[in-house]
Amino acid sequence: MQPLIGDEVVVDKVDVIVIGAGASGLMCAATAAYRGKKVLLLDHANKAGKKILMSGGGRCNFTNMDAAPKHFLSDNPYFCISALNRFSPQDFVDLVDRHGLEYVEKTPGQLFCEHSAKDILAILLTELDWSGAELKLNTKVHDIEFQDKQTVLKTSQGEFACESLVVATGGLSIPTMGATGLGYDIAKQVGHSLLPTRASLVPITVQPDRKGQLAALSGIACDVSATANGVTFQEPMLFTHRGVSGPAILQITNFWQPGEALSINISPTLSLKDLFDIRQNTPKKSYEGILSALLPKRLVELIKVDFPWLTERSAQTSNEQVECLFQYLANFDISPNGTEGYRTAEVTLGGVNTNEVSSKTFESQKQTGLYFIGEVLDVTGWLGGYNFQWAWASGYCAGLHV
Ligand code: FDA
Repeated sequence: MQPLIGDEVVVDKVDVIVIGAGASGLMCAATAAYRGKKVLLLDHANKAGKKILMSGGGRCNFTNMDAAPKHFLSDNPYFCISALNRFSPQDFVDLVDRHGLEYVEKTPGQLFCEHSAKDILAILLTELDWSGAELKLNTKVHDIEFQDKQTVLKTSQGEFACESLVVATGGLSIPTMGATGLGYDIAKQVGHSLLPTRASLVPITVQPDRKGQLAALSGIACDVSATANGVTFQEPMLFTHRGVSGPAILQITNFWQPGEALSINISPTLSLKDLFDIRQNTPKKSYEGILSALLPKRLVELIKVDFPWLTERSAQTSNEQVECLFQYLANFDISPNGTEGYRTAEVTLGGVNTNEVSSKTFESQKQTGLYFIGEVLDVTGWLGGYNFQWAWASGYCAGLHV
């Protein structure tokens, strides 16, 4: 870095400073440095890419080959299109292929490391090293001053000046992993508006009077369809000690919030007609036996508390009873009362208003030389590797322009 003599202090000057050595910041810093820019990547944490390491159950679901704008939520749904086109899932796969990463496709399109999320972080740190960008950890940003031709940062490791400042500080989820609201504060400092933030891709907690009953099911999973605000996901749901989780629940929290209607169907493949046909075709069989083939045993035991007649031959049941059972299954009562919040959420909905940021360069329309990338922006993906794809794509595109 080149020292710049200011009025009182010696300031290190670089072309680009990126705040946040997470997924998008690592990608942006390396991309810019490969273009010959002098890049300084700062993070207050003692390690880069902590969320990458804990992602995908430790195996990082690093992209989704089907990633398309429809998998992202934003006040401006068109904002993500350009970057997703310019840096596609295949581009990221090409990168990891060059490093010989072994990976697996779990559900169609969802790519995970074969061994460990550490492999993805190692690739990004190798690229950072090869690009010549400098990484400074344990660096707290105290103050940012936007001057005419440069921006000056006062940090716990000294003062730095740059022509371009990239904010890659992510969202608010998992504060113990280093999440802070610094990116939102910087946005507000230059007059950006923010879309309301809330924890998402997060487990749902249940009301105290239902919690005891459902806690007895803790650890079991079943396929459900979860519907809120007209959106439905058919995926597994997991009962936990405090409520419900699993892919179907995490997905629906992008579309549901406490106080709104949420419908859980625990036998989404079974219609009312199916239930009547079963009675017609196998009159000697009990509905308990029929449900046991579809649902975990402990869940059937819970249903029997409300429907003791399940043990009887189906021929002995009335139409009304069967209809009642169908309604119970199709609208299973989980009595949601909230979410686990930022403590365990995978992402933050909302953030820096994308109507005030260039979708091509990621430069702020409020402050020349200031850029926002990744999750700090009001762009949130579904569960399934989409959020990392957004981090790579936005980081890469900004890296080409800073
Ligand atoms: P990211 O959070 O990665 O990085 C932000 C960086 O900024 C951090 O290094 C932080 O320390 C730093 N920072 C914050 N405040 C700062 C400050 N004041 N000063 C300096 N530095 C500061 N997505 C996906 O696609 N597939 C998956 O498998 C998973 N799995 C997953 C599991 C869990 C448990 C979580 C919490 C999240 C996921 N995600 C995911 C989501 C994914 O991790 C997330 O969307 C991206 O990491 C966002 O990338 P960013 O670069 O925007 O922020």
